[in-house]
Amino acid sequence: MSRIRKIGVFTSGGDAPGMNACIRAVVRTSVFMGLEVVGIRKGYQGMLDSDFWDMDARSVGNIIHLGGTILKTARCLEFQTNEGTEKAFKNLKTKGIDALVAIGGDGTARGAERLSSRFEIPVICIPGTIDNDLYGSDFTLGFDTATNTVIEAIDKIRDTAASHNRLFFVEVMGRDSGCIALRSGIAGGAEAVLLPERETEIDELIEKLSMDAKNKKTSSIVIVAEGDKSGGAYHLAKLVTEKFDFYDVKVTILGHLQRGGSPSSFDRVLASRLGYAAVKGLLSGENRQMVGLRGNSVVMTPLFEALNNTQFKLEKDLMEMVSVLSI
Ligand code: F6P
Repeated sequence: MSRIRKIGVFTSGGDAPGMNACIRAVVRTSVFMGLEVVGIRKGYQGMLDSDFWDMDARSVGNIIHLGGTILKTARCLEFQTNEGTEKAFKNLKTKGIDALVAIGGDGTARGAERLSSRFEIPVICIPGTIDNDLYGSDFTLGFDTATNTVIEAIDKIRDTAASHNRLFFVEVMGRDSGCIALRSGIAGGAEAVLLPERETEIDELIEKLSMDAKNKKTSSIVIVAEGDKSGGAYHLAKLVTEKFDFYDVKVTILGHLQRGGSPSSFDRVLASRLGYAAVKGLLSGENRQMVGLRGNSVVMTPLFEALNNTQFKLEKDLMEMVSVLSI
């Protein structure tokens, strides 16, 4: 029998649609298994402030469809100090928390690995970030919803681009990952997608746009990942305008609206599966693991491996398809 009696759950880093569905799964699975469950507000800052919420099944009613996180989130530099990590651990122990479920991105997982490897407290991490930039899961929580949000925006931009014979550069989030840009580019029918993972050749882009113009394309949409190394959508628009004046060029930066919205069915199911598996994993003795989806199976990956694996996540066939399907 596990000695775990009280689980702490928190969200940290950039919020992502599906975090609330995940909190719900963690809380209800814990209650079902006879455990106490404590919500820790504002991520690691809440640990330092002992900002705790004794939760029960009703605490997470009617939240499965809500974006954001009812536990709030924050980025916390103090926790990264040795004193901060120790203070957090002592506060957790004072509250009687003997295991943790951390929902967040790369920084969250690094913090959890730091805490659990220095002090005696098991932790399971759930990849919650729209960026889809974590190894250990084919998809991270919020990525599908964020991509759907981008596609809705592209569809609206397409209407006005087609009406005015315009070229739009649309900048999307993803930090250093091009996952959102690539999938929304394919699903949104973009003419080109500029990715951090691939060198952007301005002349190649202009050649593609010129070919499209010759083939009587009267409007065009180019998706720019914010981490692309060519300087962002406004800079790109300026460079292209200087060499190619066929289209009237406009720029749209989608920004933080990609982080909000009601989670998609995919993200709600992913959130529920990973939250459920995280609690069951803790009870079966798992520690310092990233729970994720591989194919259609829930798997555990050692945190150290997940955090140190920089495996290329972009699908090569999707990268090839962009220029083919947009002729
Ligand atoms: O990590 C998620 C993310 O939305 C990134 O895509 C983006 O670069 C970053 O967070 C923005 O951070 P903040 O919300 O702190 O501005």
